[in-house]
Amino acid sequence: MHQQDIDAIKDVHLKAFGPDEGPDIAALASALLARQDTILISAKRAGKIVGNVLFTPFIFQDQPEIQCHLLAPCGVMPDHQGQGVGKELMETSIDHLRTIGTQAVFVLGVPTFYPRYGYAPTDKQTPYPDLLTLPNSWMALELQRGTLAKLTGKTLAVAPIMPAVFWDTSVFD
Ligand SMILES: CC(C)(COP(=O)(O)OP(=O)(O)OC[C@H]1O[C@@H](n2cnc3c(N)ncnc32)[C@H](O)[C@@H]1OP(=O)(O)O)[C@@H](O)C(=O)NCCC(=O)NCCS
Repeated sequence: MHQQDIDAIKDVHLKAFGPDEGPDIAALASALLARQDTILISAKRAGKIVGNVLFTPFIFQDQPEIQCHLLAPCGVMPDHQGQGVGKELMETSIDHLRTIGTQAVFVLGVPTFYPRYGYAPTDKQTPYPDLLTLPNSWMALELQRGTLAKLTGKTLAVAPIMPAVFWDTSVFD
């Protein structure tokens, strides 16, 4: 990937998440973009990247053969929010993940946005179950029927997103 695109994606997350969260999320995006196993979906307007979502492998330790992805982060430039960019990112990414054989997708996020695209609160574990103080914000989308029923036990995200700070919803309480 071109450095220009990496910089544009970092800038999207920096601005989308604002001055408090933005720098940490942009750094996370940067670390995820350096990995071979990260899937990136971007939306452009007038030739410029204005929205981006990243997906990384998410492992259930009891069923490591089941292909799951974690959605994080997802951001749209503030001046392009509310114009269908987020919807485009969700629809494009779901089509792509289905095509490559992803069986289920997980996201810790806004419980009013993701359910529009089929995500629903799940009782599966985050890597830090004790830090999930807002259970409705942990959601799953089943892409292959029957997958969620098979998933049990402890989970692992890729290293850059394992710090507990990314899983503590008490800051949003
Ligand atoms: C959340 C975000 C990705 C949505 O992108 P967007 O381009 O503004 O969304 P869209 O314009 O495509 O809107 C799609 C639908 O979701 C709704 N929506 C948009 N943002 C929403 C939000 N934060 N909460 C709930 N619903 C939201 C819209 O009203 C729209 O509904 P409609 O189709 O019924 O009109 C974007 O606002 C953003 O980057 N926010 C800041 C960062 C963030 O919160 N990321 C997600 C954290 S997990």
